Formats: sequence, structure tokens, C-alpha cells
Amino acid sequence: MDTIQAILKRYSCRAFTDQAPSDADLETIALAAAASPSGMNRQNWRIIVVTNPQLLADMEAEGMKNLAALPDKGAYDRIMSRGGKLYYSAPSMIVVPIKQGEPGGGEALDCGIVSENIAIAAAGLGINSLICGMAAFSFSGARGEEFKRRLGFPEDYGIGIAVLLGYAARPGGKPHEPDLSKITYIK
Ligand SMILES: Cc1cc2nc3c(=O)[nH]c(=O)nc-3n(C[C@H](O)[C@H](O)[C@H](O)COP(=O)(O)O)c2cc1C
Repeated sequence: MDTIQAILKRYSCRAFTDQAPSDADLETIALAAAASPSGMNRQNWRIIVVTNPQLLADMEAEGMKNLAALPDKGAYDRIMSRGGKLYYSAPSMIVVPIKQGEPGGGEALDCGIVSENIAIAAAGLGINSLICGMAAFSFSGARGEEFKRRLGFPEDYGIGIAVLLGYAARPGGKPHEPDLSKITYIK
């Protein structure tokens, strides 16, 4: 698929089938992630492809527990209204830990670029995705260190971003309408 088509077709998928992308496709997507640009070419990330159902279930349960414990119930209520699944039943996820506390910052931007590379590469392969910032809640509570260990986070790395990958359970999902009024050309 043409790159522009892949960008314009991508949308946030919030209901996945249990079919995981093939190993070959996940490897291609992971390669696209690792090819991302980063500030000063730091590449201070890891690209961890998770397809282990038990690990995904454990992380999701912990994330929901931590979300429910927040004083502000807004995010929890939103997830509950969408079916109560932080990971929307995705059969695979790429977790992107990032080195913490680098001078000059830029970690969030680097993670944003990696996540979009993943999402666009997936779209190009006909795979649905969801950039899942709330996956951070899987690491914010009592079991956070356990999951970092099970996923193999290096020392000094914390969760940066995660991207859910799979196939849409409800076909026909649409990308948001690009707001062309936000574009200006100054010639
Ligand atoms: C950094 C980032 C984090 C996000 N985290 C979540 C999330 O945790 N859960 C979720 O349902 N959607 C999440 N989204 C998806 C956005 O809600 C979505 O991109 C936005 O509504 C636009 O819709 P579209 O992706 O279909 O164009 C996230 C998107 C970004 C860029």
C-alpha cells in the first residue's frame, strides 16, 4: 500500500478479533519501529513485541485495577463505556519502554514517533492498531516492577508507549475526518 494511503486509512481500532498478525508481519512492523528517527539518534527505546495471551491478560487486569483506583473516574468510566477492556482484546501489543531522565528530555516525542511508525506500518500491511497511552496504568501500581521484569525492560527504563495490533472485530472503522481548516499555506 502507498504510504499516504496507509496514513489516511489508519484509525484507532477498539475491538479486535483473537487472530494475531503473522510473525513475519510483526517483524516488519518492529523493523519500522526501530527505523524511527529520534532526537540526536538516541534510540533510547526497546521494541518489545508481546503475543503471550496470559501476559497480556495479566497486564490488562492490573491496568484496569490501577485505573479504577484513580480519584478521577473519567478515564475509567470511558473505558467501561467502551466494553471495560483497556487493551480492547488485542492479541498482540508492541510495548516501547524508554530510558528515563535523559538530559534534554524528548522521550515523549521519540515514543510518539515510534508509535506512529508502528501504526502506519501496520496499516500498510492491513493490520489494525491502537496507540495505547493508558497501557502506562499496567505499570503504575504494585505489579509494575514485575511486568517490567517479565517484559525485559532494561534498568532505568520506564513505559513510554504501547501499540495494540490485530484485526478489527467490527469492520468498517473509519479514520477521523482531517480538519483541513488547521492547514495554512504561506507563500
Ligand atoms: C499518544 C496517544 C495515546 C493514546 N492512548 C489511547 C488509549 O489509551 N486508549 C484509547 O482508546 N485511545 C488512545 N489513543 C487514541 C486516540 O484517542 C485517537 O488517536 C484519537 O481519538 C483520534 O482517532 P483516530 O486515531 O481514529 O484517528 C491514543 C492516541 C495517542 C496519539
